[in-house]
Amino acid sequence: MKFSTITTDAPRIRTGCLVAGLFEGRTATPAYRALDDASGGKLDSVVRKARFRGDAGRHLQIHALEGVTPDSVLVVGCGPAKETMTATRYLKMAGGAARAAVDSGTPSVSWALCEIEVDDRDFEWKSRVAVERLGDAAYRFDAMRGNADRNRTRPPSRASVAAPRRYRGAAVSGIATGRAIAAGVSLARDLGNLPGNVCTPSYLAEQAKALAARHRKVTFKVLDETRMKRLGMGSLLSVARGSREPPRLIVLEYRGAARGQGSIVLVGKGVTFDSGGISIKPSATMDEMKFDMCGAASVIGAMEACATLDLPLNVVALAPATENLPDGNASKPGDIVTTMAGKTVEILNTDAEGRLILCDALTYAERYKPDVIIDLATLTGACVIALGAHASGLFSNHQPLADALLAAGERAGDRAWQMPLWDEYAEQLKSNFADVANVGGREAGAVTAASFLAGFVSKQRWAHLDIAGTAWRSGRAKGATGRPVGLLCQYLLDRAGEASA
Ligand code: BES
Ligand code: MN
Ligand code: ZN
Repeated sequence: MKFSTITTDAPRIRTGCLVAGLFEGRTATPAYRALDDASGGKLDSVVRKARFRGDAGRHLQIHALEGVTPDSVLVVGCGPAKETMTATRYLKMAGGAARAAVDSGTPSVSWALCEIEVDDRDFEWKSRVAVERLGDAAYRFDAMRGNADRNRTRPPSRASVAAPRRYRGAAVSGIATGRAIAAGVSLARDLGNLPGNVCTPSYLAEQAKALAARHRKVTFKVLDETRMKRLGMGSLLSVARGSREPPRLIVLEYRGAARGQGSIVLVGKGVTFDSGGISIKPSATMDEMKFDMCGAASVIGAMEACATLDLPLNVVALAPATENLPDGNASKPGDIVTTMAGKTVEILNTDAEGRLILCDALTYAERYKPDVIIDLATLTGACVIALGAHASGLFSNHQPLADALLAAGERAGDRAWQMPLWDEYAEQLKSNFADVANVGGREAGAVTAASFLAGFVSKQRWAHLDIAGTAWRSGRAKGATGRPVGLLCQYLLDRAGEASA
């Protein structure tokens, strides 16, 4: 979708669908009032007859309204006018409005919702939200269809953000930011949605390489099995043993700041298919385990956005990538492996493979002497039970970093919720035969997984996001969400703001 700004008054905008807000009790927004006036009161009379009151989450599309230029007007319920319009409430409204506008089948949209006052948020943020939410709603994954687009409504190809002249600059810059983030989200969703037979570890590496070729400040390298062996990554290699696809450790380095400035290292779990290995999973929804590389997809997506935005930061993206399959050569329960850090791990369950690949990647990350390390992983079913799809699970050994990530998630509408990392949980990972076991029993599964990882980052400020519940949707709407690229981008933007301040 192409995005632009428009300063024309709402009633005169040439568009297929003009999106305007209406508060509860039919309390008008400026655009709504202007449209109503231009139509000689027709708008309000149609809205009244449809018994549309302006309740949050409701929409009403009116076609061929007399006296106005837009082909249709999509009236969006804004909820109570008297209660504060919080960012969270606004994000929900914008998401619903974007979906309704896109689903209406119109070739172009004009968005007049940035004029609505939002607590502690400016016009630039609202323009950015418009682009992100419209981009998300217009996303299609047709790469694997032989007959793409047949019998399906096309998403709009153009969208304009309506802005009064004095906010034009803010809108232009908000759109640029939103466009970069939307592209990162869309890339992450594409990688996530691709099937396991296409999106292999080597394929992910190729995509990362292509990303580096698109951006001058990004460099790519990849570690193959031989390099991993030489580095002593016995844990990562043990997961790859059962697969015919060779593992990869993907490295993208973005240099947007001076060499001396510390780097932010993002580590994403890239299990391109997780069958569980010898501890095999039940078959019912096993297809969804193609999404087990969504952590890797997110760091690649965030890198795309970061490079497009040319942020004054140094960022490194690491993605350990492998399949987890059963085979005569696969790791077995009871096997003991030696990690790059020198610690030995007893593999009690081959399905707890994410932590086995991440621990070596985290050790590798320490080479950068990073300012912070943030890993993202579809790590545990237990996290889905704990938080559902509403929040990613956040764990950290450094509270200021946790706070910054929580705030970023809140601001981006891509929330996380912190869980504890107390020493007590590490007790559950004791092994009779090795330094540590890779599973800690049924209780607090998301925490013991995080606690396992914490054991590999003694010196660094580190946070872990368990995105098992947020990275994809199941059922009818099955598909990758692109989360938490929004959260990551916001965190990077915040860090860039500090750097330039
Ligand atoms: N990739 C899965 C986690 C997962 C499972 C995410 C279901 C979303 C839905 C991970 O590798 C895994 O299998 N974890 C195990 C850990 C257990 C063996 C300790 C789990 O959560 O069952
Ligand atoms: Mn698993
Ligand atoms: Zn997994």
